[in-house]
Amino acid sequence: MEIFKVKDYEQVSDKAAAIVIREMIKKPNIILGLATGTSPIGIYQRLIEAYKKQIISFQDVKTYNLDEYVGIDNDHPQSYYYFMNEQLFKHVDINIKNINIPSGDINQIEELAKEYNKKLYGNQRDLQLLGIGSNGHIGFNEPGSELGNETFVVELDKQTRIDNSRFFGSLDEVPTHAITMGIKNIMYSKHILLIATGESKAQAIYDMVYGPVDESVPASILQLHPNCTVIVDEDAAKLLNMKTDYLTF
Ligand code: GLP
Repeated sequence: MEIFKVKDYEQVSDKAAAIVIREMIKKPNIILGLATGTSPIGIYQRLIEAYKKQIISFQDVKTYNLDEYVGIDNDHPQSYYYFMNEQLFKHVDINIKNINIPSGDINQIEELAKEYNKKLYGNQRDLQLLGIGSNGHIGFNEPGSELGNETFVVELDKQTRIDNSRFFGSLDEVPTHAITMGIKNIMYSKHILLIATGESKAQAIYDMVYGPVDESVPASILQLHPNCTVIVDEDAAKLLNMKTDYLTF
């Protein structure tokens, strides 16, 4: 794991976007694993700018998203389908056929999870973008989820629903379940890029970096990934013992 500490959200977005852009230039038919949440929005804005300047193209890029809420429609403003379209896809030249987001259709959710899982094995991600939950979740792999999990339907943690209620009208409106790549799927990526900002992530980042590899902090599994880059701002890095702005082990 290598960790970069930078000043703030803008610098995290700059540095992470630079890595994604570099990889897209190196491999125009790259397979990207994408994430939602507030953390990657700055990266997506920079990717759109780079596309507009003709530095990168999404024409041959394939994308696989981490997760989706169960039981809300694609056109619901809080669905991750809607989010991805608004924040990235509608602004770039991606072929709609190359966009993959797990479906949260409650009627056939178990079947859909199996199908998505199969696709993930046939399309190893070159680069997987990740945020982190304040409870150490990645994707929607909540504390206690088995580290050997493949794509599955998860009951959301109370803390996650509270954290995400800021996007919904009230806590009651936050879905109770989600479909998510499992830890095993996330680990099946050649390179992982995790970003985190703000003090609310400091404990999760500390546990991810120094803690035992344990189901109570799903992100701790990343200690075992051979190529994992973490970019954090000063607040999220607050509990790390970083004498310089770079740490690797
Ligand atoms: C959600 C997503 C995660 C994301 C996390 C943090 O629950 N399922 O993929 O990393 O929240 O979100 P944010 O970046 O908004 O703090």
